[in-house]
Amino acid sequence: MYVDPAKTTARKPVTVPGLHAMKAEGRRITVLTAYDYSLAAQLELAGIDVALVGDSLGMVVQGHKSTLPVTLDHMVYHTQAVARGLSATLLVADLPFMADRDLPHVLQAGARLVGEAGAAMVKIEGAAPHILDAISALVARAIPVCAHLGLTPQSVHKFGGFRIQGREQETADRIFAEAQAVQAAGADLLVLEGVPTALGERVTKALDIPVIGIGAGPHCDGQVLVIHDMLGITPGKRPKFSKDFLAGRDSVAAAIAAYAADVRSGAFPAPEHCFN
Ligand code: KIV
Repeated sequence: MYVDPAKTTARKPVTVPGLHAMKAEGRRITVLTAYDYSLAAQLELAGIDVALVGDSLGMVVQGHKSTLPVTLDHMVYHTQAVARGLSATLLVADLPFMADRDLPHVLQAGARLVGEAGAAMVKIEGAAPHILDAISALVARAIPVCAHLGLTPQSVHKFGGFRIQGREQETADRIFAEAQAVQAAGADLLVLEGVPTALGERVTKALDIPVIGIGAGPHCDGQVLVIHDMLGITPGKRPKFSKDFLAGRDSVAAAIAAYAADVRSGAFPAPEHCFN
């Protein structure tokens, strides 16, 4: 049954300046991934602040071993579907692998995800010089950017697997410097993934922009999880940084509401979801 998302919410729309205000006011930001209309509508109903159409869809929707096979056409298709389920929740879409190969491709990808698919912001992994240029170029064209540092899944082959980053002082210092660089390039949000709690805290305290953690400890300005992980339906072992919020509850809506409440109260992530 089709339900108009605008009729399901009385919330004020979440905006990019609104996310900055949440950090300034110490209100934690709730983020979940979504890949289709129905789950997007559940996020909207639960009052989740940000829906991320992650290229994790390559793994949890398409069944690949990594995010690398995801194309821009896939991202546009899923972002369009998610957009139909949202009204007040802010929509962020991932730039897929190699969309950053040069500036024309980045700008084309940004234009499609925002103009054609309805995203309000695009997410890009890394802080190499060409990524910093890409962030500045997108922002100059009024496309807000969410940076993504730490365990960046598109670098899985470089890392030799999905491994926690920043455990050594040198890598931690590099990630810290990268966080400052993406902010200076114009990013409005940062996803920090798979790093020790101390590094998550250090980056969050140093940046003006909100830092959204996933496996980055409890001190971040907000948290994100892959929705299949937090509903316990991802095949195989649950990642340490995630939690099955459907366990012991009788509906997807109740699981998402519990996640939102636990992120806002600081109950999630607990020490068992964090890394040293
Ligand atoms: O692709 C994705 O879902 C992501 C989140 C895990 C942050 O990048």
